[in-house]
Amino acid sequence: MALSNKWVLITGASSGFGEGAALAFAREGAKLLLGARRVDRLEQVAAAARKAGSPAAHVHGLDVASTASVNAFADFVRQHTDKLDVLINNAGGAKGLDKVAEGKDEDWEFMMQTNVLGVLRTTRAMLPFMTSNPGSSIINVGSIAGRVAYEGGSAYCAAKAGEIQITRALRLELSGTGVRVSTLDPGLAETEFSVVRFKGDAERAKKVYEGVNPLRAPDIAEALVWMANRPAHVCIDEMIIKCTDQAAIHKLYRRTT
Ligand SMILES: NC(=O)c1ccc[n+]([C@@H]2O[C@H](COP(=O)([O-])OP(=O)(O)OC[C@H]3O[C@@H](n4cnc5c(N)ncnc54)[C@H](OP(=O)(O)O)[C@@H]3O)[C@@H](O)[C@H]2O)c1
Repeated sequence: MALSNKWVLITGASSGFGEGAALAFAREGAKLLLGARRVDRLEQVAAAARKAGSPAAHVHGLDVASTASVNAFADFVRQHTDKLDVLINNAGGAKGLDKVAEGKDEDWEFMMQTNVLGVLRTTRAMLPFMTSNPGSSIINVGSIAGRVAYEGGSAYCAAKAGEIQITRALRLELSGTGVRVSTLDPGLAETEFSVVRFKGDAERAKKVYEGVNPLRAPDIAEALVWMANRPAHVCIDEMIIKCTDQAAIHKLYRRTT
């Protein structure tokens, strides 16, 4: 499927992978519908996307933790198109690195609301734009944390494991519609992820990547474009991408000099 003039919806497009994806799909000539809570940042991404070649880049505030907000976003989508070609459920992230014994309800709730319920409610709202459009793609951004647990990651790992199972169940449910359903599960990547996880502590966030050459947003964006751009009969079910320095979730090579 050539992506030129196709409608691509990206959640969490105000930074990181979502921003990178907006620019990468823009370079393919795709039309963009971008959502996140920080609308000022979305406006900047949309302007850059138009410069990069997108014939239309529209933004609207979106809080995937709220059904009312997701439904309002669907109304915004309907103002522009009745068919979506690509839905990227990317909004999400981690809060805190506490062990279960010290876990905070508000952190757990953020992780479940965005990474799990956000994917469910956004997908539910967008399915009518996709099931009438064989060859369209739903790509969920998961994580290697959904596949391997780590200390302090209980809720995030659970949430991303949930995302993987949502992807698998949805693929079964949509069998016969021609809608492709995928998960792209990255490892360590330098975005705003760690600043959000450590609640604005930029110093602590920086340490996560010390001595490592991590993934960056364009690495993931390129893969998202490739997945969406396969012929209609090809579905990339699951993809794992890690930086070369991350041989496994617990085995990170750090340069000391
Ligand atoms: N970086 C990594 O190491 C890594 C690895 C594997 C997977 N991931 C996953 O990749 C995805 C993107 O993260 P990132 O690394 O690009 O981090 P990021 O730079 O922090 O981006 C997260 C995006 O999600 C949006 N978001 C958060 N809560 C939201 C909500 N309630 N409603 C709507 N949008 C919301 C943020 O926008 P607003 O704040 O403006 O709403 C932002 O655009 C997440 O699902 C994350 O779990 C990240």
